[in-house]
Amino acid sequence: MEVISFHAAGLSVPNPDGSDDDTVILAPVSLDLRESRVAVIGANGSGKSTLLRLINGLARPSTGRVVVDGKDVARDVAAVRRRVAFLFSDPLSQLVMPLVREDVELSLKPTLKNKVRRRQAAMDHLDSMDLAHLADRSVHDLSGGERQLVALTSVLAAGQDILVADEPTTLLDLRNNILLQDTLFALDQQIIYATHDLDFAARADRVLVVEGGHIVHDGTPCEAIEHYRQLALSASSEGS
Ligand SMILES: Nc1ncnc2c1ncn2[C@@H]1O[C@H](COP(=O)(O)OP(=O)(O)O)[C@@H](O)[C@H]1O
Ligand SMILES: [Mg+2]
Repeated sequence: MEVISFHAAGLSVPNPDGSDDDTVILAPVSLDLRESRVAVIGANGSGKSTLLRLINGLARPSTGRVVVDGKDVARDVAAVRRRVAFLFSDPLSQLVMPLVREDVELSLKPTLKNKVRRRQAAMDHLDSMDLAHLADRSVHDLSGGERQLVALTSVLAAGQDILVADEPTTLLDLRNNILLQDTLFALDQQIIYATHDLDFAARADRVLVVEGGHIVHDGTPCEAIEHYRQLALSASSEGS
C-alpha cells in the first residue's frame, strides 16, 4: 500500500469578522495511512471532507505538510493527482460529459491519445464494472446508483492507485449503497472514505473519528464506532 503521511498538517482560515484568531477547520494532525481501507467518521461539519481534501490538494494545509508516496501535495499537486482519485457524494458534480461512454473516455484522454483505442478502453472499463449496457445512455437518465457507479468507473479509468471517497453512498438507497460498498471493496486501490454509514465504516481496517476539527479517536472499527456513538449521545444529552 502507498503511504499517505500527514506531518502536523492542519487548516485554519482567517476569521470572517476580521479578528486576530483564525478559525481552526482541522487542527494539525500527524499520521500515516497505509491500510487498504480507512474510514473517517464524525458529525456534520467536524472536518471529514477537509481531511480527505488535503490528500489530493483540493484543500491546501495552512500549516504542516501532506505527503503521498513521497510527494508533497502542496509542491507537486499534479503528480499527487496522478496517484489519487477523488469521488464525491454527488456523481453529477463529477460527470461532465453527456454520455456515459464519453465521460469515461474523457478520463482516459491524458493517457490514451488514440481515439479508437480510447473508446475501446472506455468500453473495457465499463464492462469490468458490469456497466457496458449503459455506455450510450445520458448520465442524466441514470438512477442514482447507476450514476455513482459510472462516476466511480470514470474516476478510476484515470488509473490512480489511491481512491479518496467523500460520503460516496450518502445519496444512495440501501440496495445501491450495498452494491457500491461491495464494488469499492473489490477494488485493488487503497481507499480512504468518509461516511455516516456505520456498517460501511465497520468494514474498514482502521477508522478515524473527527470531532470539532480534531481526530479524537484512531483505531479499530469496533472501538472507533463506539467512541463516535458516545460522542453523539453526550452531544444530544447536552442539547436536550
Ligand atoms: N475553506 C474554508 N473556509 C471556511 N470554512 C470552511 C472551509 N472549509 C471548511 N470549512 C468549514 O469547516 C467545517 C468543517 O468542514 P468539512 O471538512 O466540510 O466537514 P464535514 O465534511 O465533516 O462535514 C465546516 O463548518 C465548514 O463549513
Ligand atoms: Mg463533508
